Amino acid sequence: MQLDMRMSDDLSRLAFEVSERPLGEILSPNLMWQCSCYAGDGGRSPECGPCAVHELPDAAEISDLFGRHTRIWYRGLSVLWDGWRGWPPSIDTFCLVRALLRAQWPVRDVRRLWDIGAGTGFIGLQLADAAPSITHLTAVETSMPAAEMCWDNLDSYDGRSDLTMEIACQPAQGLLTKQLQEGDAIAACPPYLPRPPWDCDSADSGPAMGTDMLRFLIRIAAEKGAPLALGYSTLAQSDVNEALANASGLRMEVLAERSVPLRLALSPEFFEWLMDERGLRQETDDVFAYHHTIRAVIFTPQG
Ligand SMILES: C[S@@+](CC[C@H](N)C(=O)[O-])C[C@H]1O[C@@H](n2cnc3c(N)ncnc32)[C@H](O)[C@@H]1O
Repeated sequence: MQLDMRMSDDLSRLAFEVSERPLGEILSPNLMWQCSCYAGDGGRSPECGPCAVHELPDAAEISDLFGRHTRIWYRGLSVLWDGWRGWPPSIDTFCLVRALLRAQWPVRDVRRLWDIGAGTGFIGLQLADAAPSITHLTAVETSMPAAEMCWDNLDSYDGRSDLTMEIACQPAQGLLTKQLQEGDAIAACPPYLPRPPWDCDSADSGPAMGTDMLRFLIRIAAEKGAPLALGYSTLAQSDVNEALANASGLRMEVLAERSVPLRLALSPEFFEWLMDERGLRQETDDVFAYHHTIRAVIFTPQG
């Protein structure tokens, strides 16, 4: 059995179905799902508080299938997400894709699109499907299980037949440095969670942690004159500003912004640092204590 999650065009509703049998719908799906109960063995975690998914009549069935057999739909296209293999498209991914499609990005003369840190391949598939000038989609994903999941999704795509697709399973930095060229554009929802100075000795780890990739993408886009679309959190705004200040010839335009809960298990000191130094907000009247602002942004080379 498979759970179908259908995000509405305007990101205001998320419907759950199994075999076209509706299981329920949540409104304002800022997290796509509203708790982490699915991670357990089907039981509801006592800490999770009121939860939009668990108020649905078929919550148990949703939790049971979630992340194991989940097909995620948006605008008639879907990807299969397997929680054991990689990161799902989340609200920041949807915000980015929606803003870019509305702005008709990538621009008309882009032939090759790089989806960096592709996960399920959702961003690349959505954009390439909508932009006829793109003849080549290259997904880059450093994790082998995620790259396999991505390849399954690219391989199942049955839209445009004139689209050549490939996946590279390696760190994007080396590949882009060597291969990014004129006529290419980059789209990414890279890891964006800044780390406090006292937590920076270890290398960036985990699919959401660190701002190295964010800063690298701005630098390489400026160096090679490539259009770049990024989904990130304003928690990383100073990193973005710093990278932009060192990257001449790029103009930044914010296409969309949205306040969303931050659903990550971090230490109290980490949360405190994000509040003191990076603008994390504490909310008392929400299931989730911490909120931040996600942004969909494009960087365009000038001249
Ligand atoms: C936050 S997830 C986003 C996944 C997907 N783009 C989406 O929005 O649904 C970031 C992804 O980047 C990948 N990643 C992290 N560092 C990378 C690197 N150096 N090169 C390529 N992929 C990387 C991670 O494995 C993870 O799948």
